[in-house]
Amino acid sequence: MDIKKVGVVGCGLMGSGITQVCAQAGYEVIVSEINNELLNKGLASIDSRLNRDVEKGRLSPPDKDSIFNRIKGTTDTKDFNDRDLVVEAAIENMELKKKILAELDKICPKHAILATNTSCLSIIDMAMVTGRPDKVLGLHFFNPVPVMKLLEIVKTIATSDETLETGQNFGKSLGKTIVIAKDTPGFIVNRLLIPYLLNAIRMLDIGIATKEDIDTGITLGLNHPMGPLTLSDLVGNDVVLFIADGLYEEFKEPQYAPPSLLRKMVTAGRLGRKTGKGFYDYNK
Ligand code: CAA
Repeated sequence: MDIKKVGVVGCGLMGSGITQVCAQAGYEVIVSEINNELLNKGLASIDSRLNRDVEKGRLSPPDKDSIFNRIKGTTDTKDFNDRDLVVEAAIENMELKKKILAELDKICPKHAILATNTSCLSIIDMAMVTGRPDKVLGLHFFNPVPVMKLLEIVKTIATSDETLETGQNFGKSLGKTIVIAKDTPGFIVNRLLIPYLLNAIRMLDIGIATKEDIDTGITLGLNHPMGPLTLSDLVGNDVVLFIADGLYEEFKEPQYAPPSLLRKMVTAGRLGRKTGKGFYDYNK
């Protein structure tokens, strides 16, 4: 199937990044938010990232304008009634995601593919609230979306081969490299990433090393772009905890059990960059 019109539900960190890369690839995108304040915040973040590309000479001002003009914001999901593909990028809450998928199923054309950007939730559970489970799949992007080259595609037992192929072609058209995973908690990347992040937090908790030395050990010792505690702050410590809880619930393996320090950080609102404080202080 030929995708021309894309919808994105949610214009937060992930939704705004997905909207941006789709518009940059030439798609006409409608992005929705629950209110105008959040919508305008998300659209402003896209505008400022594109302006930075102009300042850096990576984008001409007319190209920037045409990318931005391909994006339309809305607070009314009914505007998705002509979309070929919609990516849901709301917060990680199964009941909310099911509600969104059921609503999209009613509004979107029969041929439309419904995708979710969930990083850990069961996609078949979401697919089964729609009348088109064969057209539902996971399109899992990575943060920051405009920079990260990977797109993890998640195929449920109901996803059709045609939907998978359309998803792969769509991902490639965004300039992403595709990996395909089964619909299991954490898919490929988070199933490996989360125990690694949890181990770093455990090491900090029991005083094996300082946070700076744990991060330096990994950046300089393994050539990672950032250490695990900085990465946990980037992903969001609440998101790390949420995925870890989901993995532990499914597999009951100690490697996925969240350390108490992580739970305390989340309780204290130290979610990372988005709240200004996590393992590190971003207000300084
Ligand atoms: N949006 C768009 N572009 C961004 C950006 C953002 N949020 N953050 C950084 N960039 C761009 C910058 O524009 C910059 O390019 P220019 O300076 O030429 O403009 C470039 O990335 C490098 O940025 P910085 O110089 O500020 O910093 P850096 O070199 O440390 O790179 C980074 C920042 C790209 C985030 C890099 O540290 C990195 O790749 N970190 C690892 C990120 C990662 O692992 N992400 C996956 C998280 S897991 C996930 O997302 C899945 C999940 O479900 C939890």
